[in-house]
Amino acid sequence: MPKVKIAPSILSADLSRVNKEIKDVEKHADLIHVDIMDGIFVPAATVDSNFIKTIKTKVPLDVHLMVHEPSNSYIKGFIDAGANSITIHEEACKNPSKQINFIKKNKVKAAISIKPKTPLYRIEKYLNMVGMVLIMTVEPGYAGQKFIALTMSKVKELRKLKPKLDIEVDGGINPLTARIAFEAGANIFVAGTFIFGKKDRAAAIKEISSTLK
Ligand code: DX5
Ligand code: ZN
Repeated sequence: MPKVKIAPSILSADLSRVNKEIKDVEKHADLIHVDIMDGIFVPAATVDSNFIKTIKTKVPLDVHLMVHEPSNSYIKGFIDAGANSITIHEEACKNPSKQINFIKKNKVKAAISIKPKTPLYRIEKYLNMVGMVLIMTVEPGYAGQKFIALTMSKVKELRKLKPKLDIEVDGGINPLTARIAFEAGANIFVAGTFIFGKKDRAAAIKEISSTLK
């Protein structure tokens, strides 16, 4: 199984002081997960690539695009802002190969995500093109939702198909659900509320990572 990584999601942080919030988690985070919502693919809208440019950190940025049909120039904005990986949604793109190829051409790690109700076969043809798959463990759109355990069958099946692929889970992750996802085969764990909802963010991260051994 690939390396275990923890990715605090800044959706749940205080974005008016984002660099201070990131300082709190930096030492213990492997990635910083940044949720981008367009108000179309999901009802809410969040920050854009200009906001990402203001983030000062050495921790790699994991950009999750909950965006309908992102264009090359839109994606380029995130590449120029320093994204280390960019995840698109299968449900949001007519032909995801187009976005995947563009991201890869720009030497950024490309990833594809599916919502809880989307079956795994929908992304089978992209598995050899991407560096990571994000299996959503809640409906995309909001922080603070409950982990959907039914999604674990997809993680298990995917891990069997791809022993070396990065498999990320996102939504409702806490020490208990992280452990469930870890046992199913996930190795990258996004957590918003559980980390940023705590005063001691470092302790919260350690609490998650201590269950992943
Ligand atoms: C949900 C986002 C998540 C969100 C997770 O649409 O993709 O990254 O921040 O938040 P929690 O950990 O609170 O479920
Ligand atoms: Zn996310």
